[in-house]
Amino acid sequence: MKKLPPSEFARLGERTRLVLAGRDPEDSYGFVNPPIVRGSTVIYSNTEDFLARKARYTYGTAGNPTLDALEAAANTIEGGAGVVAVPSGLMACTLAFLTLLSAGDHVLVTDSVYRPTRNFCDTFLKRMGVETTYYDPMVGADIATLFRPNTKAVWTEAPGSQTFEMQDIPAIVGAARERGILVALDNTWATPLFFDAHGFGVDLSVQAGTKYYAAHSDVLIGTVSARTPELYKALRATWTQLGLIVAPEDAFLTLRGMRTMAIRLKEQMPAGIAMANWLKARPEVARVMHPALPDDPGHALWKRDFTGASSLFAIELAPVSMKAVAAMLDGLSLFGMGASWGGYESLVLPFDCTDYRTATTPGFKGPTIRIHIGLEDLEDLKADLDAGFARLRAAG
Ligand SMILES: Cc1ncc(COP(=O)(O)O)c(C=O)c1O
Repeated sequence: MKKLPPSEFARLGERTRLVLAGRDPEDSYGFVNPPIVRGSTVIYSNTEDFLARKARYTYGTAGNPTLDALEAAANTIEGGAGVVAVPSGLMACTLAFLTLLSAGDHVLVTDSVYRPTRNFCDTFLKRMGVETTYYDPMVGADIATLFRPNTKAVWTEAPGSQTFEMQDIPAIVGAARERGILVALDNTWATPLFFDAHGFGVDLSVQAGTKYYAAHSDVLIGTVSARTPELYKALRATWTQLGLIVAPEDAFLTLRGMRTMAIRLKEQMPAGIAMANWLKARPEVARVMHPALPDDPGHALWKRDFTGASSLFAIELAPVSMKAVAAMLDGLSLFGMGASWGGYESLVLPFDCTDYRTATTPGFKGPTIRIHIGLEDLEDLKADLDAGFARLRAAG
């Protein structure tokens, strides 16, 4: 198998690059996949080499071939200056904050941020002497009115966790650039396949690889991609200082998931949209939150900037008791109830974000449910939910 020079590799399609990235049979004893290399100590040939740390790999916490392969695959779809992998999606978020911020800084964070990220801002960042202001995700270019002399970064997530508000990323990037403020994005929902974060000027692009990268609900992992070589250097330095090494088995499993990611998303996108439309037509459902639906408030932004949608969205039920919601959800046989998403299986969970958001008031009248559509037959999933709605009405 002839190895392509980087310039030819870069010209290949996204799917081809996802299949090839990080693989070199010459380094893998001829086998297709890179090996799982376990190790802490690296043995050097002699004193001179040890003192100069002259080796391809210097120590376990500084990286290994399995991790390199994963980071190369992530980098090929992120299209930035470099990617680091970390042991969870949450860690990818916190590493991005730690790379950008120092004591005395101010950060703007979307009110629709993933809740554990918000918890990190309210606890760890606060303890570090960094002040967080939450803003309305729909703020757009008006983000500039919130800038302070010490504002160093804007955190975005599009669409937002649980409520799926779209954000005008180019407008936020434009306003931030004028002031030398950096923009980070939790791009887990769209993945780099459906939103070109760096192409839109995002400086640090975060991915909870636990979701659509690994995709089999058996790995926790995250990645952060930097737009410029300077930022990549700062990101890699923070990663090294913190000792954030990923277990090689987890890197391997994630890489294995990424090989089929484009195909899975190609199936999951229309399945998610079809299910969202089916739910929208149900009398029990008051509202569907999915930016790919034409009447969603974020649809115009999604259509302008995104090339696809993943299969996670939410619904607001018409007012009904939580007892009825439990009757519906507890009896489902194809949808598991649990956190996370992006795997091959369908999931459902009730949520309530009204008590912790501070910059916006969600204003739901009925209970809210988040839904992830996996790779099952859509008609089976609809039948499961249909029976669930019958239980909801009976318990109503
Ligand atoms: C938007 C978003 N970002 C980050 C994470 C964190 O990922 P992990 O579960 O790997 O820590 C999640 C997890 O649900 C998420 O939904």
